[in-house]
Amino acid sequence: MNESRICIALDFQTKEEVEEFLKKFGDEKLYVKVGMELFYGTGIEMIKTIKEMGHKIFLDLKLHDIPNTVKSAMKQLAKLDVDIVNVHASGSIAMMKAAIEGLEEGKSTDKRPLCIAVTCLTSLDQEVLDNELLIHEELPEVVLKWAENAKEAGLDGVVCSPLESKIIHDHLGLDFLTVTPGIRLVDDSVNDQKRVTTPAMAKELTSSYIVVGRTITRAEDPLAAYREVYKQFQGE
Ligand code: C5P
Repeated sequence: MNESRICIALDFQTKEEVEEFLKKFGDEKLYVKVGMELFYGTGIEMIKTIKEMGHKIFLDLKLHDIPNTVKSAMKQLAKLDVDIVNVHASGSIAMMKAAIEGLEEGKSTDKRPLCIAVTCLTSLDQEVLDNELLIHEELPEVVLKWAENAKEAGLDGVVCSPLESKIIHDHLGLDFLTVTPGIRLVDDSVNDQKRVTTPAMAKELTSSYIVVGRTITRAEDPLAAYREVYKQFQGE
């Protein structure tokens, strides 16, 4: 198997739950996403344990603060030797540049962690943009502009919907990564996701990485669900 580009969202509360879940995959090397829920509950120890198992980590903490604070925070995160970290694009180009500087200063190997930006959260819609945030451009325009800002700041890509991936790649090139959640196999329940795509559709729409949570973590047979996602998205 090639290196996985499927980030399994470890949306669990405890270290025990994570270990129990990862055991099901035997020696398989995975890409996992650690978000706020797990990180705030288990901290740096959990990151070290997952790294020791040989898995890659997308640490999804979505930093957003003044540039100097983000730079210092990224310097600390770079020491964890995780593979992807992220920030909110709405924090400005200056903040995103500072994130990269922090990662460069803190990196423990030649290679800094990749840094991607959250554009518009999928929980925001045009009405919230217009009436609460006073952003009157169309939402897809906002997403593309914030992705352009991320590229200008030197970031490696964005988190976005698979449906936005193609247009971002058309404008900013295939090397600019699109990391896309909202993935479901055909028979799954949609849960709270509004717009979902299958792994095969995400591949068609040029997603660089997909983030998959409940489709794998809540499956009766998580390994079988992972294999199906892998087959559709990466072939083999
Ligand atoms: O279980 P599910 O596949 O819906 O999980 C998706 C993961 O991706 C969750 O960790 C969720 O927080 C994250 N995510 C998302 N939509 C975004 C950004 C992140 O679902 N726009």
